[in-house]
Amino acid sequence: MTQFPVNKFQSIRTPFYFYDVNLLRDTLEAVKKETEKYGFTEHYAIKANANPTLLRLIASYGFGADCVSGGEVKAALEAGFDPSKIVFAGVGKADWEIETAIDGGIFCFNVESVPEVEIINEIATSKGRRVSVEIRVNPNVDAHTHAKITTGLSENKFGINLSQLQSVIDKIKSLSNIDLIGLHFHIGSQITDLQVFALLCNKVNEIVADLASKGINFSNLNFGGGLGVDYYEPDSNAMPEFTDYFKIFDKNVKRDSGSHIHFELGRAIVAQCGSLISRVLYVKEGEVKRFAILDAGFTELIRPAMYDAYHKIENLTSSDEELNYDVVGPICESSDVFGKDVKLNAVKRGDFVALRSAGAYGEVMASGYNCRTLPKAYFSDRL
Ligand code: LLP
Repeated sequence: MTQFPVNKFQSIRTPFYFYDVNLLRDTLEAVKKETEKYGFTEHYAIKANANPTLLRLIASYGFGADCVSGGEVKAALEAGFDPSKIVFAGVGKADWEIETAIDGGIFCFNVESVPEVEIINEIATSKGRRVSVEIRVNPNVDAHTHAKITTGLSENKFGINLSQLQSVIDKIKSLSNIDLIGLHFHIGSQITDLQVFALLCNKVNEIVADLASKGINFSNLNFGGGLGVDYYEPDSNAMPEFTDYFKIFDKNVKRDSGSHIHFELGRAIVAQCGSLISRVLYVKEGEVKRFAILDAGFTELIRPAMYDAYHKIENLTSSDEELNYDVVGPICESSDVFGKDVKLNAVKRGDFVALRSAGAYGEVMASGYNCRTLPKAYFSDRL
């Protein structure tokens, strides 16, 4: 259970991110144990949290990295991730980003369109290099998650649709400096119904069998990330269902001795170790509502405003009574609301409030809107 050293927070300017490093270490150990059990490779999805201190820690456990921009490739290399375990996805890779990745010697590009592979081939050829690619396939499997974080439906911009897969493979095979080494899938994020992953496995088996019958075989399958976390009970469920998650793939994916399975978990690794810590600025008694106005807003944590996401809110200063509040930020937008009718220990000006499970897509999505300062990060083992 994450402990908040509130006495040590007194001297820190709020809002800031606080990371429970022991919890992150336990989570990394758990992922390492499960992936080693089956010979799987995890590439941590840097997009979930690119804080350099956390990246260095994650890299030290031997995981690879999943990047979606040249900046992320650089961050991964700087943090010490092994280049031979870095994968690079994204629908719109710019030329300089492709160059950065080739120069860095990454494992492979996860490609999403023919024009993109043609450019990668052109750049690789000009450098006298061969480059490995996996095709990101859009398997049209419903992830049963929020529409804005669903990626594997035909209507989404990601990947190659099944009806076009064969012709894309033929095209890629004709390119001089490209080696096609596998298929990549990612159907969405914050997936809590594990059955969805079993469906994905079955779909992938069908695709692989169909291609094999045409003489096309792959040694790598990458299942992306997507495992959800419990935003409602961050303490009792601090660790996602890693055992069940990896077991599903081991049980359901048909593979031979030469095939290798990859994952790109992001959220499941870092979400629960991070909290956004804020102070209450004012309590405002409205006509129909009581507002707790924080000094943090959607500039520091955009998930509630952007995806209607729930984050558990806790007043770290205890009090005898509980009251209901709309917990809001200072940004000049009506969507700057962290929660409505939230039951909290009665708050007063200066109390510390924690927005829990904010380690993934929190700090990394912060912005300077309203000329705000980007939040700093503090770590439980060095406060
Ligand atoms: N691999 C690919 C190709 C992805 O697109 C993503 C996430 C991941 C891996 C990592 O997925 P995860 O294990 O974290 O679910 N900002 C949103 C989430 C966007 C996820 C986009 N893709 C949020 O705050 O919920």
